[in-house]
Amino acid sequence: MAKLQDKVAFLTGAGAGIAKATAKLFVAEGAKVAIVELNREVGEAAEREICAAGGDAIFIETDVTKDDSMKRAMDATIARFGKLDIIFNCAGGSLQEDVPVHEMDLAVWHHTINLNLLHPFLSCRHGIPHMIKAGGGAIINVTSHLGLMGSMKPAYAATKGGIISFTKTLAAQYVAHNIRANAIAPGSIRTERQIKRYENKDFMLAEKPSPAARTRMKMQKLYPFSHGSSEDIAAIALFLASNDSRMLTGSTLAADGGRSTYLKIYDGDD
Ligand SMILES: NC(=O)c1ccc[n+]([C@@H]2O[C@H](COP(=O)([O-])OP(=O)(O)OC[C@H]3O[C@@H](n4cnc5c(N)ncnc54)[C@H](O)[C@@H]3O)[C@@H](O)[C@H]2O)c1
Repeated sequence: MAKLQDKVAFLTGAGAGIAKATAKLFVAEGAKVAIVELNREVGEAAEREICAAGGDAIFIETDVTKDDSMKRAMDATIARFGKLDIIFNCAGGSLQEDVPVHEMDLAVWHHTINLNLLHPFLSCRHGIPHMIKAGGGAIINVTSHLGLMGSMKPAYAATKGGIISFTKTLAAQYVAHNIRANAIAPGSIRTERQIKRYENKDFMLAEKPSPAARTRMKMQKLYPFSHGSSEDIAAIALFLASNDSRMLTGSTLAADGGRSTYLKIYDGDD
């Protein structure tokens, strides 16, 4: 029996990366999916790909940072599929301009808060009433290993840390409605965007690699399990969405190969 037979899932940012891989896996396990995505081109392509493989998917052009846009996306999901069982809040990211607090432009802070923290709040605000009506559900929020520890990106860290306590609060608040809420904290995931950014000649293979490239190579040596694929995170999302994880609520699963758990000192050649 498929693990998500006839379930309806609302996935933000599902035109690319982790959420797209998750949408495909959910469909393979019997779910119908709403691809809630800002970028029309990738959103339509994801919908085409899933439907061509025999799945049931709808792309809904949405800005997850806007309340009215999220309400429309939820209404469109219910109009198409009639109910809601799973929310996967995955759209998000950080900006290069996320620099030390005293140097940061306020617009960078607001952008990051809206994308990474306001957005899961908005999908829960509009989605939870439908989950209550359905008799329960599963909410999965995507944070980061940088939400579990300090880092050099204050806005990103604040939002990803906020998601972890928000998830615990959702767990407490909706347990009576049979709704579970959990989070995933990925390490370094080889999405199309990451490959473009890090695995190019200038970044990794330059005669004298940049400090960022050297740090990345050292991390790979120290924490080899911390580098994964979108499909690795999709598998954890499937576990959290399905009945297999029925004892878990309020948890954050650190899918980061130990990077937020133990300290290793680099003793190789630089
Ligand atoms: N990739 C990693 O290494 C990594 C590591 C830790 C955490 N994460 C987290 O995982 C999540 C997904 O990351 P990814 O690498 O798969 O991202 P990605 O950039 O590959 O995909 C994100 C998708 O979200 C969409 N999006 C962006 N802004 C949006 C908006 N306002 N409204 C609707 N859609 C919007 C983009 O168009 C894109 O399709 C993010 O929250 C990120 O912080 C990623």
